[in-house]
Amino acid sequence: KARIAILISGRGSNMQAFIDACEAGELDASIALVLSNNPDAAGLARANAAGIPTTCVNHRDFDSREAFDAALVRTLEPVQPDLVILAGFMRILTPVFITPFAGKLLNIHPSLLPKYPGLDTHRRALEAGDREAGVTVHFVTPELDGGPPIIQAKVPIEDGDTPETLAARVIVLEHVIYPIAAKWQLQRRLRLDQQGATLDGKRIPASGIN
Ligand code: GAR
Repeated sequence: KARIAILISGRGSNMQAFIDACEAGELDASIALVLSNNPDAAGLARANAAGIPTTCVNHRDFDSREAFDAALVRTLEPVQPDLVILAGFMRILTPVFITPFAGKLLNIHPSLLPKYPGLDTHRRALEAGDREAGVTVHFVTPELDGGPPIIQAKVPIEDGDTPETLAARVIVLEHVIYPIAAKWQLQRRLRLDQQGATLDGKRIPASGIN
């Protein structure tokens, strides 16, 4: 069975979507480890409750991003994951972590990338007067939130929306599209190459599959 490692920093609702997808048999995989950089992440308790091994590697214990990333690599070494899922993992990763997992490292970002990499995506979409927002699952490369998109989901922005109401509309779709992308990856239908991402040998458009 394929082995998934999930990196979190907080609530862990996307992690929970993976737990549910594995339990339902939608993903033919097991979650081998949930790793948090934040010892207080609520997601750690949710993973423990599901009987999944958890560990914390606290970034505050390291003097550089590279030293932290090397500790992450060492922690995942015995796990030998087939797929590494960033699920609300709020640390910027360097090539020390990204290179060893290139092509099997996915992130979910709550914007219609390439719009709004970084933080506060929903507030920025509202302030820009956008009429739609959404979420993107992408391969991770060293460029922050800049790796090739795989799948994207859109929601309308409604009058009176706040970052919170918009986030609540988007998160529902996060939980749908992230396990889909993971399933494609575990079925070996996705590839990361110099030009971007492919699904079944066909080039995925720059906005991801909608
Ligand atoms: C999700 O909305 C995810 O897209 C976002 O953080 C939230 C985590 O929620 N990720 C980022 O902003 C990455 N830069 P969760 O802990 O409930 O899955």
